[in-house]
Amino acid sequence: MTAFTLLLYIALALGSQILLGVAYALLWRPSPLVPKAQPEPLRAAGAWSGLRAFRVASRSYEDAAQTQCSFYLEPVDGLALPAYQPGQFLTFHLVPAAAPGAPAGSITRCYSLSERPAPDHYRVTIKRVAAPAEPAGLPAGAASNYFHDHVHAGDTLHLRAPAGHFYLDTGAHTPVVLIAGGIGITPMMSMLRWCAQHQPQRLVHLYYGVRNSAEHAYKAALEDMATRLPHLQLHVVYSKPLAQDTFAIDYRHRGHVDLALLKQTLPHGAQQFYICGPAAMMESLVPGLTEWGVAAADIHFEAFGPATVRLSAAEPPSQEAAVPISVQFQRSGRTLAWSGKPSNLLDFAEAHGIAVESGCRSGSCGSCVSTIVSGAVDYASPPDFDLAPGQCLLCVGRPRNALTLDA
Ligand SMILES: Cc1cc2nc3c(=O)[nH]c(=O)nc-3n(C[C@H](O)[C@H](O)[C@H](O)COP(=O)(O)OP(=O)(O)OC[C@H]3O[C@@H](n4cnc5c(N)ncnc54)[C@H](O)[C@@H]3O)c2cc1C
Ligand code: FES
Repeated sequence: MTAFTLLLYIALALGSQILLGVAYALLWRPSPLVPKAQPEPLRAAGAWSGLRAFRVASRSYEDAAQTQCSFYLEPVDGLALPAYQPGQFLTFHLVPAAAPGAPAGSITRCYSLSERPAPDHYRVTIKRVAAPAEPAGLPAGAASNYFHDHVHAGDTLHLRAPAGHFYLDTGAHTPVVLIAGGIGITPMMSMLRWCAQHQPQRLVHLYYGVRNSAEHAYKAALEDMATRLPHLQLHVVYSKPLAQDTFAIDYRHRGHVDLALLKQTLPHGAQQFYICGPAAMMESLVPGLTEWGVAAADIHFEAFGPATVRLSAAEPPSQEAAVPISVQFQRSGRTLAWSGKPSNLLDFAEAHGIAVESGCRSGSCGSCVSTIVSGAVDYASPPDFDLAPGQCLLCVGRPRNALTLDA
């Protein structure tokens, strides 16, 4: 290369930088939705404050039984969406009273994003929650049934920005083990799709436990990815296969996703674990992994509802308070003695007839936030919701000492 050619390259490179800079300065407009300061990493970069209106672009079932339905959501304002971390969730504020047969009042619920980030839409996948078999007469799940029965293309929903601590470490290249039970597959789909696009060389083991092919969500999509991606190891586990379900075709293991299966099938070596499933699965698997020798820093988990997940089976369950602790609900004018049960302040307040707003009951949505007037509140593990100083979450909090709440 002559000196002249070299100089020409440098000039062109500098010129393109300048042109880019000028274009950026001309085209960039600050979004009115971007708040001044966002706590990181709990909320997605560029996240909006409060609620934002989204239109349901379409919906489609993900399983043969039609109990899991995906909703595709586009922002009504048409502005670009912040890129969330694969594994994060959205918080919906539903006001369903207008629909006949819908539950009265507003409902707040969280739903994981079930796709890799896209600038123009979000997707969540919602499982219809039936009423418990016993005791008879209890209502079916309010929000999930409302979504399935009353939310259609063209409807408007209001939601908070993507949030949550449970997300893939996208900076690492360590092999990743995604473990999903039932609808816990949703954040794993987001992580898996992200890896497929951005880290196709990263080894991913996906363990997905469901009853049978009727409830097997994203079946075709998962099978397609397993064929195309040489670094994906797909372990579908059926607990109650149907007569027509074929071993080694529809599913790879029979039973449950448990430690024994992981020990049999996972190669030795460093791995990052991400787990999301029913309470029983999480409560056994998370301490089981630490007992197996997996470092606590490599075990990430999220419960979709109340669950008592301890990192180690050897770790004793949270102690009951030695003496009753005084808890004052200032606005309700009640002072009560807490002796360790119920295990969280929300259940405790409700058991004494004190009405407190709630949503997820697992520290994610922020509905039960309260201001601490005096005293302190402890959590078994840090809640997902981003608390301001002096605030606490009643649904996962326990009083550490004499407590006065603005509730
Ligand atoms: C971070 C996070 C992410 C999540 N992601 C997803 C996701 O991707 N997909 C998904 O489907 N879900 C997800 N969930 C769960 C979701 O938020 C809801 O909890 C779920 O849809 C159930 O809500 P619901 O309003 O339908 O049921 P609820 O009305 O909350 O009822 C829950 C259960 O309690 C029963 N019940 C009702 N009344 C009573 C009563 N008086 N006594 C006893 N039981 C009663 C209901 O029949 C039902 O079985 C997530 C949760 C969290 C916290
Ligand atoms: S009810 Fe959702 S954070 Fe407490």
